[in-house]
Amino acid sequence: MTEKYWEVPHNQLALQIEKLSKIYNNKVKNIALDDISLNIPVGSIFGLLGPNGAGKSTLINIISGAVIKTSGKVCIWGLDIDKYRKQSKLAVGVVPQELNIDAFFTPKETLNLHSGMFNVPKNKWRTNELLELMNLTHEAETYSRNLSGGMRRRLLVAKAMVHSPPIVILDEPTAGVDVELRQKLWSYFKKLNKLGVTIILTTHYLEEAEFLCDHIAIINKGKIIANETKKSLLSQSNQKVIIITLTNNKITEKDKSYINNIGNVKIHKNKLKIYLDPKYTSMNKIIETLYKTDLKILDLSTKSVRLEEVFVNLIKDNLIK
Ligand SMILES: Nc1ncnc2c1ncn2[C@@H]1O[C@H](COP(=O)(O)OP(=O)(O)OP(=O)(O)O)[C@@H](O)[C@H]1O
Ligand SMILES: [Mg+2]
Repeated sequence: MTEKYWEVPHNQLALQIEKLSKIYNNKVKNIALDDISLNIPVGSIFGLLGPNGAGKSTLINIISGAVIKTSGKVCIWGLDIDKYRKQSKLAVGVVPQELNIDAFFTPKETLNLHSGMFNVPKNKWRTNELLELMNLTHEAETYSRNLSGGMRRRLLVAKAMVHSPPIVILDEPTAGVDVELRQKLWSYFKKLNKLGVTIILTTHYLEEAEFLCDHIAIINKGKIIANETKKSLLSQSNQKVIIITLTNNKITEKDKSYINNIGNVKIHKNKLKIYLDPKYTSMNKIIETLYKTDLKILDLSTKSVRLEEVFVNLIKDNLIK
């Protein structure tokens, strides 16, 4: 899917960021990125996580050229953006956070126009292929202003791909996208990655990062506070949550005291969420304990909340320091 002429950089880094800072309007209170360094290996699906205002979009916008850095060095696919502005820009396709779509163009026109802007030879235009990939063939001739939010987001993903860049950066690509399509996008991103495209992704959906990414960096108040493989980040926690739906809202103090023996419980209407570490609490113990209570159980499911827990703890620690 990527053009052959994108030879892999000798240091195997898709993105190399050294001591990067961004201060908006030269005001100290506007430090959006504070001396960050980050290496993103070729071929990874790299998650960039962080709370609102952490600096994720600022970083992405510096890479795409939409924001000018204050200081530091950025190399995209081995090309220093200060020396090779134009070439480095070609190595990356960005799906921005804002749905900035040309309202009076159709998706087909948008993709054709964009291919032209990137100087893609006409015989290599991928408009139809990308429309199909993003499930937009039916809307190909519809004015973009008439597309739904999710369709616009898909069009933005297609737009980022017109010049077949070796790096695709997705700034919250599934925000506002329905569940079915989110899963389709996930499998498309995985497919793209298998074809050799390096993917950098920001998201507030931690399950999305947990499912897709092999490497995760967490950014908070303009600083990188974690940068590890997903495996090593997740090994910091083993927490699971058991979700129990009851047939009624009746939960007595006695029931609660039993449940507290297996984990930390949160109650909302007829739902109980029990947070526990499976290393210390066996399934047998959970079932035995539930059996002792008078709870009338309608449904029971389990979920891993590992990334969520690690994320919240890291941000919390960072606030205390
Ligand atoms: N154009 C701008 N002018 C001044 N300050 C800005 C500008 N853009 C962003 N900021 C500030 O920089 C900081 C980082 O913002 P940024 O948009 O990079 O965060 P983010 O991590 O992408 O957040 P979110 O998760 O909400 O998208 C914030 O304090 C924000 O107010
Ligand atoms: Mg953002």
